[in-house]
Amino acid sequence: MNEQEKRAAALAATAEIVSGMTLGLGTGSTAAYVVAHVGERVAAGLVVRVVATSVETERAARAAGLLVADFADIAVVDLTIDGADEIDDRFFAVQGGGGAMVREKIVAAASRRMVAVVDSSKMVMRIGAAKLPVEVLPFACAYVTARLAALGAEVVLRRTGGAPFLSDQGNIILDARSIDLSDPAAVSDAIDAIPGVVGHGLFLREVSAIYVATGTVVTRLERQDKRG
Ligand code: A5P
Repeated sequence: MNEQEKRAAALAATAEIVSGMTLGLGTGSTAAYVVAHVGERVAAGLVVRVVATSVETERAARAAGLLVADFADIAVVDLTIDGADEIDDRFFAVQGGGGAMVREKIVAAASRRMVAVVDSSKMVMRIGAAKLPVEVLPFACAYVTARLAALGAEVVLRRTGGAPFLSDQGNIILDARSIDLSDPAAVSDAIDAIPGVVGHGLFLREVSAIYVATGTVVTRLERQDKRG
């Protein structure tokens, strides 16, 4: 992963931001460059209403001088800019390396346009090598682990400092590896159908465009098929 590329992709995408927008701020180290830049532009006179996809981003946005609106009161977002762990040219992405994929997916779904900002290492031929994070009610840990294993996954309970990692919603994360993603929609539907699953990191319909940086060159890829 390349900080220069992350920053270049993030800054290129911020050119889409105009005054009057409701703006969704993503989570992670790439989205952090967006947050900082939006803070600078707001200080210089840009007027936007921002919502955050995680507690971490909300804190960073406040530190950058932004007023953060409560997404619970907002149904439609104009533009969201977020990172991804893996993305391919079908605009299928895996998110949730930071455990924020549930809020990220909700805000992306509410967004008229969601753009992914990535360094060149995230752009892959086909998604599937990265772990697929699944947020689960703690009560359902063993049951969902078994159901994911039945889908062919190697499942690891995400931990931090020895204790289970907890999402912003207070749920655990099961990281699923080695799931066969040759039919991503079928896998997404199968995981969504498991009782106890709150959400997962497969983003198949949300991404409208990708800004990918390779060295100092940023390429924008636009999705041609309509979002459902
Ligand atoms: C947060 O949970 C994630 O979905 C991030 O958006 C994703 O992991 C990308 O993060 P980086 O930009 O830090 O790689």
